[in-house]
Amino acid sequence: MVEDRKKLVEVQNLDITFNQGRKNQTLAVQNVSFDIYEGETFGLVGESGSGKTTIGRAIMKLYQPTAGKINYDGQDVTKIKKKADLQQFHQAVQMIFQDPQASLDMRMKVKDIIAEGLDANHLVDSDEQRTKIVEDMLETVGLKREHANRYPHEFSGGQRQRIGIARALAMNPKFIIADEPISALDVSIQAQVVNLMQELQKKQNLTYLFIAHDLSMVKYISDRIGVLHWGKMVEIGPADEVYNHPLHDYTKSLLSSIPEPDPDVEKHRQPIIYDPTREMDGKARDMVEIAPQHFVWATPEEIPMYQERAQAYGLI
Ligand SMILES: Nc1ncnc2c1ncn2[C@@H]1O[C@H](COP(=O)(O)OP(=O)(O)OP(=O)(O)O)[C@@H](O)[C@H]1O
Ligand SMILES: [Mg+2]
Repeated sequence: MVEDRKKLVEVQNLDITFNQGRKNQTLAVQNVSFDIYEGETFGLVGESGSGKTTIGRAIMKLYQPTAGKINYDGQDVTKIKKKADLQQFHQAVQMIFQDPQASLDMRMKVKDIIAEGLDANHLVDSDEQRTKIVEDMLETVGLKREHANRYPHEFSGGQRQRIGIARALAMNPKFIIADEPISALDVSIQAQVVNLMQELQKKQNLTYLFIAHDLSMVKYISDRIGVLHWGKMVEIGPADEVYNHPLHDYTKSLLSSIPEPDPDVEKHRQPIIYDPTREMDGKARDMVEIAPQHFVWATPEEIPMYQERAQAYGLI
């Protein structure tokens, strides 16, 4: 059972407000809680501006929570202060970005990009060791040793994303935050990068936070999925359940917006429109476990409705 596994990341009642007290104050993340178990992939989905990147960056310690708590491996990340502890944390937690074009320095050779974190943290003792790590990483992500001396512009989008993955892996991380790592890639290349990430996960027992716009992108790779809407987590559950039997209306609307590959089915697709004002009634909501490990953001009065849905789907 998933509950027996170790919680590697614990996010508790996280609030992140930008420009607090000013006119342009933004409540980017509001009262969000979720855990990520060691070795799993947690998919985080939501439309543009819903707060996905903000949560990822807060876990990386790049943003300070306005309220709430983030634990990594049992430690409160905001309290990691000692140089050695910071170094260990920044080694263990790595990020892969959406746009390899923007996240790789185009003036640097591939070998220097891959070794950037190693150099910054003085993690290699000799040129030979550095070269060996770079070459191993290139091979691990399906590129060639000879690519070490080239520049990013000499690669395709998919290959550049592999360089980004190699750069993260060079640090020998435990946890990788992948912020829309396949969104900028051709559909034909997306599956290759996802497969590579899954292989690496198995081999190195990695834990992933995999961020995406679209549920169809995360359903295959994720063990569990969390759905964000306007900074709030509205549903969390096992990936196949959230995809096949969504309980929250926002998740339903997100799913109904995915185009169907079959043109005949697509012709009859009825997008569900979600009315967000429903959740702006000022009532207190909480994550309620409606079916095993399947949570919905609900008031006490809404619980029977979600229970009925779960029953109709055969979840309880
Ligand atoms: N550094 C910042 N300063 C001020 N506001 C910010 C900052 N970063 C994000 N925001 C705001 O916080 C909200 C959430 O942004 P965030 O980038 O986390 O969304 P996202 O879900 O990652 O969107 P996308 O899918 O477009 O990447 C948005 O309203 C955004 O404008
Ligand atoms: Mg983002």
